[in-house]
Amino acid sequence: MTPKVLFAATDTAWQEYEGHLGHALAAAGIEAELSPEAGPPETVDYIVYAPSSKLKDFTPFTRLKAVLNLWAGVEHVVGNQTLRVPLARMVDQGLTEGMVEWVTGHVLRHHLNIDHALSHQSGEWVRHVPPLARHRPVTVLGLGALGAASAQALAGLNFPVTGWSRTPRDVAGIDCLSGPAGLEEALARAEILVLLLPLTPGTEDLINAAHIDQLPRGAVILNPGRGRLIDDDALLAALDAGHLGHATLDVFRTEPLPPDHPFWAHPKVTVTPHIASETRPDTASEVIAENIRRGEAGEPFLHLVDRDRGY
Ligand SMILES: NC(=O)c1ccc[n+]([C@@H]2O[C@H](COP(=O)([O-])OP(=O)(O)OC[C@H]3O[C@@H](n4cnc5c(N)ncnc54)[C@H](OP(=O)(O)O)[C@@H]3O)[C@@H](O)[C@H]2O)c1
Repeated sequence: MTPKVLFAATDTAWQEYEGHLGHALAAAGIEAELSPEAGPPETVDYIVYAPSSKLKDFTPFTRLKAVLNLWAGVEHVVGNQTLRVPLARMVDQGLTEGMVEWVTGHVLRHHLNIDHALSHQSGEWVRHVPPLARHRPVTVLGLGALGAASAQALAGLNFPVTGWSRTPRDVAGIDCLSGPAGLEEALARAEILVLLLPLTPGTEDLINAAHIDQLPRGAVILNPGRGRLIDDDALLAALDAGHLGHATLDVFRTEPLPPDHPFWAHPKVTVTPHIASETRPDTASEVIAENIRRGEAGEPFLHLVDRDRGY
């Protein structure tokens, strides 16, 4: 029987994805009925899902085989008790490449002190020689799809990179640490700290006053992970006290970041509006189509979320 795929996201996303998904399904040998309208919910086999969708109650979808998330982050859907089928998150080559580019770009900005050059175009010949990357330790918290790729790109530029994860990992070229003792060590080394952790009860407010204290004086924090990984007040206090040199933040507790939020005007904070990386419809459609092919063939789905772990 032809599987029915409900696309539960915004109208704009549907316009971006419709053609790509159709092509990717055909290329995967799947003849599917693809629609942004549920119709009778008991006829739907798969839901391609953006957690910003109005769809919150999965109970009526009695034939559902899987929910295929369009985003890498699943914190808005992972605790949904009406969802009782496998949940796959997005691991997409385009998403990974975008994140690697954002992370390396912002690391290099701080490493090379590009801001200094931009603010010293006065005709005065002041030579400001940055150290080599090999003398600038960088730590990446989170060694998943995005963290490991970003860490390896930085290592490829000669930065000594420490990575930290929940369970022990082995990533070529990266000094991999794990667990609470590993975190202490990873923070102590970090002249530049990159947060690529998912938001879970185990990571919320991880970057609090005590952990910020463990960073070397003048350290820079880059957060393209999730806003709630950081205690905002502790971050602002450490920037004001001079313990931290700068914070470049892409994600926030409240998005869009409210116009009166102190981050906007703070001289040591750079705000980017959750653009570090975006799921790319062409490559993401191939991932979705492959998971539908697997579902139809009775093969295990890719990129499944562990609902207990929260990511
Ligand atoms: N700003 C943006 O545009 C944007 C775009 C996409 C994604 N993101 C964010 O990036 C996050 C990471 O994505 P991903 O695809 O790399 O995720 P992932 O593949 O699931 O990797 C998560 C990593 O975090 C580690 N981790 C999880 N909980 C931990 C804990 N309590 N202590 C230590 N380490 C922990 C995991 O450890 P193990 O290896 O031991 O499992 C894993 O290494 C997403 O969840 C999302 O929030 C942001």
